[in-house]
Amino acid sequence: MNVSVIGLGKLGAPLAAVLAAKGHHVTGVDVNRDFVRLLADGRAPVDEPGLQALIDAHRARISATTDFDAAIAASEASFVIVPTPSDTQGGFSNKYLLSAMNSIGQALRKKTGYHVVTITSTVMPGSTGGEIRRALEAASGREVGKTLGLCYNPEFVALGTVIRDMTYPDMILIGESDPRAGDVLEEIYRKVCANNPPFQRMNWVNAELTKISVNTFVTTRISYANMLSDMCERLAGADVDVVTHALGTDSRIGRKYLKGALGYGGPCFPRDNVAFAHLARSLGARADLAEATDRLNRHQIDRLAAAVLGLLNGGSRVGVLGLSYKPDTAVIEESQGVALAARLSEERREVYVHDPMALPGAMARLQDKVVPMSAAEECLAMVDVAVIATPWAQYASLPAAVFARNGTRLRVLDCWRILSRDIAAVADIHYIGSGRDDAPAKRVRAVS
Ligand SMILES: NC(=O)c1ccc[n+]([C@@H]2O[C@H](COP(=O)([O-])OP(=O)(O)OC[C@H]3O[C@@H](n4cnc5c(N)ncnc54)[C@H](O)[C@@H]3O)[C@@H](O)[C@H]2O)c1
Repeated sequence: MNVSVIGLGKLGAPLAAVLAAKGHHVTGVDVNRDFVRLLADGRAPVDEPGLQALIDAHRARISATTDFDAAIAASEASFVIVPTPSDTQGGFSNKYLLSAMNSIGQALRKKTGYHVVTITSTVMPGSTGGEIRRALEAASGREVGKTLGLCYNPEFVALGTVIRDMTYPDMILIGESDPRAGDVLEEIYRKVCANNPPFQRMNWVNAELTKISVNTFVTTRISYANMLSDMCERLAGADVDVVTHALGTDSRIGRKYLKGALGYGGPCFPRDNVAFAHLARSLGARADLAEATDRLNRHQIDRLAAAVLGLLNGGSRVGVLGLSYKPDTAVIEESQGVALAARLSEERREVYVHDPMALPGAMARLQDKVVPMSAAEECLAMVDVAVIATPWAQYASLPAAVFARNGTRLRVLDCWRILSRDIAAVADIHYIGSGRDDAPAKRVRAVS
């Protein structure tokens, strides 16, 4: 099918490539001329593992333009993936979506024939059937359900694994104006997904609520695991990994996202959780669970900073290894590593930082508050305490020798327990896995 993808950012560019890889002809559109030029030249506009290879292999089916008229005329369906930033009340702003609806609608006036517009950006429930529909109908002069289909179809992906997540999704969620519109989308995805996922087709508002409920359920699990971790650090003999492993074998619970470590970050989880609570309150429903999840998450950075300051014990030099909010991405939004580095600098500690991908972005944020190190080994050599804040695979494979030093004891706080067991055996390091009763600032008390 001929499709257009409006918005070529972290999600839109991979979607354009995945659609092309599965045989669709894709026209990418963005208001950012640089992104359009890059994609038109066969170069990935954003960093995402596997994206450049996919563009290289399927370039013949990908074009890019800033011209909405050309893109809409050349396609039968459009995916709109523009930002929906948080607004001042805690919900999401649709301003970029409304601008895109206006451009798409104007272009549709110059085209005959059926067209499906699909909103992929995360929106607050009520948006698709409310202001988005109104803007599209007004700009296009068409009525949704006749020659115009309107769907809400969010992606469930994580940065770093976007291409795999789009190819092997757990489900395809479609909120549809009518069966004809949903059928078009289902036809597109039947070709894209390699794992024959279930299609969940429903009205717009159910799909909108499902999207933010999925993220909020996951954040609740993360905060739950972090609460357990905090308890284990205070309970003689306890180890959060042992507890969560056993918990996860219960088929009612399952293993995913049940790791006591650091708070959740990134562009989606924190804000989706806040938006979910805001929605509950605005409907007059109780928001306690989402609010507690958010409060616990915000507390994680205090907990971490207190642990590190306790470990420093008079020393002043700290290394923060890992600044991206998760491995395999350069994104630092709401990253615990960046927040920790900033906090320790406020506490007047000398902070050395390293990250395999996120160093430039993090330095733009942290500026002269910290010292960037181009290699993890160099960072370790400079400090009294090292914190592994992001579980990058390359940190997990650091050899024990790089932690060794003469005379002083390097203390290593391994927040994700990824370092090899040999590290703990190096004579002059003090290895601490968080979430266990050997963790710092412990207030272990025997259970009487
Ligand atoms: N990044 C993620 O992990 C992720 C995951 C799930 C959902 N989402 C949602 O997807 C949406 C997009 O997120 P993203 O991370 O790809 O954002 P992004 O900022 O990386 O990319 C958005 C792109 O849209 C372009 N744009 C803005 N206004 C436009 C317009 N009127 N017409 C054409 N292009 C326009 C921007 O120039 C930018 O290139 C958001 O609603 C986000 O919540 C993101």
